[in-house]
Amino acid sequence: MTTPLTQLPAWKALEAHAAATKSTTIRDLFANDATRGERLNAEAAGLFLDYAKHRVTDETLALFAQLAEESSLRAKIDAMFRGDKINITENRAVLHTALRAPKSPTILVDGVNVVPEVHAVLDKMAAFADEIRSGKWLGHTGKPIKNIVNIGIGGSDLGPVMAYEALRHYAQRDLTFRFVSNVDGSDFVEAVHDLDQEETLFIVASKTFTTLETMTNAHSARVWSLAKLKEHAAVARHFVAVSTNATEVAKFGIDTANMFGFWDWVGGRYSMDSAIGLSTMVALGTDHFRALLSGFHAMDEHFRTAPFLKNLPMLMGMLALWNTNFQGAETVAILPYDNYLKRFPAYLQQLTMESNGKHVTLDGHVVDYNTCAIYWGEPGTNGQHSFYQLIHQGTRLIPCDFIGFYKSLNPLGKHHDLLMSNVFAQAEALAFGKSAEQLRDEGMAEWLIPHRTFVGNRPSSTILAEKMTPALLGSLVALYEHNVFVQGAIWQIDSFDQWGVELGKVLANRIIPELESEEEPALNHDSSTNALIRKYRAHRRA
Ligand code: F6P
Repeated sequence: MTTPLTQLPAWKALEAHAAATKSTTIRDLFANDATRGERLNAEAAGLFLDYAKHRVTDETLALFAQLAEESSLRAKIDAMFRGDKINITENRAVLHTALRAPKSPTILVDGVNVVPEVHAVLDKMAAFADEIRSGKWLGHTGKPIKNIVNIGIGGSDLGPVMAYEALRHYAQRDLTFRFVSNVDGSDFVEAVHDLDQEETLFIVASKTFTTLETMTNAHSARVWSLAKLKEHAAVARHFVAVSTNATEVAKFGIDTANMFGFWDWVGGRYSMDSAIGLSTMVALGTDHFRALLSGFHAMDEHFRTAPFLKNLPMLMGMLALWNTNFQGAETVAILPYDNYLKRFPAYLQQLTMESNGKHVTLDGHVVDYNTCAIYWGEPGTNGQHSFYQLIHQGTRLIPCDFIGFYKSLNPLGKHHDLLMSNVFAQAEALAFGKSAEQLRDEGMAEWLIPHRTFVGNRPSSTILAEKMTPALLGSLVALYEHNVFVQGAIWQIDSFDQWGVELGKVLANRIIPELESEEEPALNHDSSTNALIRKYRAHRRA
């Protein structure tokens, strides 16, 4: 049996160390070490990570390394890359790293080398993307496709929409891309309201091809398309599927020749670089998509091989754990200072929280420590004018990840320097604050001093890179994927299942006929749910 996490010597040592350093502030740490800002950083795959503004010392870092060792982190990483079935509750390998592997290695799942299959799908995607981008793929009435609508939800939406927004600068601008996820009909209606059926192609993206939201939207898309195109044969020119489930794809009426496959060893939230990225490839073209994959792969190799103190995902994972388990933080704010990354916090919410929002260990024991923090965020500088007040002066500790670029893709007057000055200023203000003494020295009225004081000592990481490119986005996403892995591995949980989404789905399926039926249904829920359903039915009828 695995030693419980809290019994590991390194965990106990970290507890003692946290208690001993409780009153040491980030300000003290900088005052005692003139080289701190130069030392506490690491760089890989185009990303520079400054972690000097965390409440850590060299001893903390040594204990992190010890905890990694005692948790067999290296062996767990090797097991993932090798294709072991580390997703134990679903008995699946976890091989998103194989999606961006070059052609040379052999990666076996159940005795089959998956690498050639990965490359065959990439080639099929490339041929399709080229046809759409060049205008050779014609719709049912002979017109080229101008609009691509991705229908999917969760990992089949958040990755594609995030990547499209992040890399929009590189997209083919005469193509329009829309993303429909919500089962709320307004999402679909607004997405297509100005589109012409003759020029619109739907990518129905669903690993299972059974997800209620996606299938409902896909059926509405078919009705909408055929309302103008009339003949059923049109479906073949206006619908393609991305899925692992050929049977369901065929049942829907999509020719499986127009299906792009992937495998059960790709988790939904780890799938943006599989065929789920078809819309990304159509938008960017094959070369940019391959560059995206190369960025992922560069970070994979770094994660697999770099020593602990130089290993970005390991450092970020351990810092997240330190803040969650030893500093009392409940959340992490993701603050990209790049407007193209506006969907990145939403993407990371699924990646982090669906992965590590677990309360039992791999062997089924309820944990006696917190697991995943709550991830949220908004692009800077917009967040500064809404919720940063709480981060600076509220009662909670909110570690922040700042993300910025040396160069803008759209240099415009002073904009970029102004934007980046805010990254540095916010991280500085959070760490060092402003003391009552400083305010007094500035002549501040005594009664105002408590209101104007910034306690500081609020940790943050700053991630910097040259500029937003496909390769850079790949490294950035892989950095967070592996950061999540590190946290889950130390917490001894299954980061790759998602049973927590099931109960709601089952209950919704039970409620659907109760809402739809003409006759008053016999309701057997709790009295609150019964009353809500009755109220809804009454108003719906009215
Ligand atoms: O409900 C959660 C989930 O299973 C996610 O893990 C997944 O990304 C999403 O639903 C969509 O699933 P699918 O791609 O099978 O439609």
